[in-house]
Amino acid sequence: MSADAKKIPTPVGLLAELTHRCPLGCPYCSNPPALEPRADELNTASWKEIFSQAAALGVLHAHLSGGEPAARRDLVEIVAHCAKVGLYTNLITSGVGLTQALVKELADAGLDHAQLSIQDSEAQSADRIAGYSGAFARKRAAAEWITQAGLPLTVNAVIHRANVERAGKTVEFAVALGARRVEVAHTQYYGWAMINRAALMPTAAQAEAAIAEVEALRKTYAGVIVIDHVIPDYHARYPKACMGGWGKRGLNITPSGKALPCHAAETIPGLKFWNVRDHSLEDIWFNSAAFNAFRGTDWMREPCRSCERKTIDYGGCRCQALALAGDAREADPVCHLSPHHAKVAEIGEVAAGSEEIDREPTYVYRRVKLPEPAE
Ligand code: SF4
Ligand code: FES
Repeated sequence: MSADAKKIPTPVGLLAELTHRCPLGCPYCSNPPALEPRADELNTASWKEIFSQAAALGVLHAHLSGGEPAARRDLVEIVAHCAKVGLYTNLITSGVGLTQALVKELADAGLDHAQLSIQDSEAQSADRIAGYSGAFARKRAAAEWITQAGLPLTVNAVIHRANVERAGKTVEFAVALGARRVEVAHTQYYGWAMINRAALMPTAAQAEAAIAEVEALRKTYAGVIVIDHVIPDYHARYPKACMGGWGKRGLNITPSGKALPCHAAETIPGLKFWNVRDHSLEDIWFNSAAFNAFRGTDWMREPCRSCERKTIDYGGCRCQALALAGDAREADPVCHLSPHHAKVAEIGEVAAGSEEIDREPTYVYRRVKLPEPAE
């Protein structure tokens, strides 16, 4: 490791997209529109090697994600390996694909925590958003199996136009499911959410009412459930420190082994992502050009360069800067100091201006694109 590399903090978390296969079709999925096929997925031995290297590098948390990680038949073996190398292991699941026996096996193998997604607190709407009939009932069952197995449960709900009026109810639903923590996250517009932005964006009034409702519940449920509240970017004044800063706290590994500084990094042109099949995790983290591209603050332009918040939010999200300002080196346009901020306000106002909000909008559901049929 070089002297410079020593100044770079080691990652705290590794998000492993074990597979992009998923029975659900959520229109806000953060996976890339070009989903990776099963044939390209890393095998069991490769994933075990990655987790061994991660633990040696200093990673503390392994987030087993997807797609739906339960679509992998080797999930128990992977969890057991993570536990063996001393990683705190969190399963991020849709619940569909779990069985009671599998949950027990995972708990016995050393799983530390499960994070279950819900689409709504009402069955019909939840199934419509997921694009999967019966998903709601299966998630209820999965929550029961998780808590019965003694695993701490976090419920995650993404908020958008179709469920924004029940944001508070999702907290109550999470309590009923036995969760210790609930993450109420307004949609972040990457991946499939960007494709579906017009159908997902709530009005400003709806978003504000939902925020107030959830904040009020903090008092009601103090000591019962922890509420993590991610407020909508498009209605904010300052951006979030995406990923806690680029190449600072965590990394994602795609099903085929590409190491990414964030889940939408592949949208940024010119960046080359090293693969864990060719490079060690340590080499990727410290030396790859992609991880160093937006590390720290040297890459910044004005207004970030001279801003006192530059080591708080690191200029926000690079992928959002690219999507909205056309260049990943710009300040995230969510920031009111960005010269492109008007564009964000405009997008918010388009939704806010529509009096007739369609509560059942038409989605482009997340699906693996099948090959074109032969002529
Ligand atoms: Fe953050 Fe840049 Fe805005 Fe300052 S100008 S608050 S660093 S995005
Ligand atoms: Fe890529 Fe925010 S999603 S930096």
